[in-house]
Amino acid sequence: MVFSLLITAILAIVAAKTLKEYLKIRHSNIPSANMGWPLIGETLSFVKAHPAFTLGDYLQHHIAKYGTVFWANIFGKWLIHSVDPELNRFVVNNEMKMFKQGWPRSLSRLIGNNALTISLGDAHKRRRAEVLNYLSGSRLESTFLRDMEQIASAHMESWRNRDMVIATDETRKYAFYMIAKKALSMTPGSPETEKLMEALNDIYMGIGLIYVNFPGTRFRKALQSRAYVQEVIRQKLEQRRLKDQEDDDFLNYLIKDGTYSTEEMGDLVQNFIFGGNEVIGRTLAAAIYYLGTCPQACDQLREERLQVIKSKQQSGDSSLTLSDYRGMEFTQCVVNETLRLGTVSRFLHKVATANIQYKGYVIPRGCTVIANISAMHLDPTEFKDPETFNPWRWLTPNGVKKSRSFMPFSGGARHCIGAELAKLELMVFIHQLVMKYEWEFAQNDPPMATPRLEFPNCLPIKIRAISPKL
Ligand SMILES: *[C@@H]1O[C@H](CO)[C@@H](O)[C@H](O)[C@H]1NC(C)=O
Ligand SMILES: *[C@@H]1O[C@H](CO)[C@@H](O)[C@H](O)[C@H]1NC(C)=O
Repeated sequence: MVFSLLITAILAIVAAKTLKEYLKIRHSNIPSANMGWPLIGETLSFVKAHPAFTLGDYLQHHIAKYGTVFWANIFGKWLIHSVDPELNRFVVNNEMKMFKQGWPRSLSRLIGNNALTISLGDAHKRRRAEVLNYLSGSRLESTFLRDMEQIASAHMESWRNRDMVIATDETRKYAFYMIAKKALSMTPGSPETEKLMEALNDIYMGIGLIYVNFPGTRFRKALQSRAYVQEVIRQKLEQRRLKDQEDDDFLNYLIKDGTYSTEEMGDLVQNFIFGGNEVIGRTLAAAIYYLGTCPQACDQLREERLQVIKSKQQSGDSSLTLSDYRGMEFTQCVVNETLRLGTVSRFLHKVATANIQYKGYVIPRGCTVIANISAMHLDPTEFKDPETFNPWRWLTPNGVKKSRSFMPFSGGARHCIGAELAKLELMVFIHQLVMKYEWEFAQNDPPMATPRLEFPNCLPIKIRAISPKL
């Protein structure tokens, strides 16, 4: 008796909830995919890995059937999926007014409440301005660029006696050495640096996992690594107090500001390293992959660099400046094309904070919009043969192409702060690589959407040293 009452009650609750969802979806004017299996919805077909430069069966099927905006049930929740460039721009540009970040609650445990990714309102604005100021063009020029060139060059020299390297290991190290030097003046390759790199990787792998804090779980490991990273930063702070000469790094910049607590500095430094680490490393690996499929692009990059150096030598100076890099048109196109097909921040997860009307749609308050950036980058009406790496597509007779469907760094109030840094790092790395080596794939290992951008076999490449001349 009690049992059947209980069952009835549960059924009633489920039915009421389903009805509510149903009404919400009906009212929104947005088509809805069917339910899939109860509870797991369409999750299984959604998480199936596929090459990162394709839409994958799930999206291809859904876009064909429902259009570029639709409801679908993933992980037991109804979410609005959008591949529509206009809606996605609208979402991004109205962050903090009509939308907020929809991160899982476990995230703040891993990256801290003061991290830019999480903080809101005025605190967010102030911290953001501070980091932006740190990454200003003049600092990129005066210290970042030389460090990048030097670290990249030393790193690639270390490959000299090898005929094969594991690309993702190498790009990850390079990106980490660079950012750890700029954040905390850490020495590339030292045991302390390597240990910090592993800890940050554990944290990265913990993001998006369900909060299960048991011994042996990946999430527990991520939490422990977070504690370790915070401890390293605290120790550095202590050492700074005893030191008389100043280091030129992000930690010092925060100390000099004088308004941050130890805890805030810990979160901000971790966030700084985080932003410049996994994402850049993976983008560089994507560059190695895509350039490896396109030898003509490598030749044209070599030629462009040699031309610029030659003309500089005539005026007695051979080191490249920030504006030299930015002025190299073909290099810019390679950067754009790499970011298009190798988008690492593949989608945004935003929650509506009001009832929103847009282009005939009604987006109810509290519901989540998945703005899919990487899928937008594969729109055939905007990018012909979208699956092909073709840097020349960005060249037009009147300069460089602009595209409303291209948002590798998100936009609006949360436009990626490190965008300029990332682009510069990409350019420096690509240039050093094509000037020093030719490479081919040791096996077929295309980047996969898992949904992270990943190379299942870590992209082994066979390399051959070269020294190109004009
Ligand atoms: C976004 O699109 C990509 C295809 O580029 C797909 O791999 C990914 O699963 C989609 N992500 C979401 C959250 O829909
Ligand atoms: C790269 O894309 C951005 C954004 O669309 C655009 O402003 C820029 O001109 C592009 N660069 C090149 C070289 O095409």
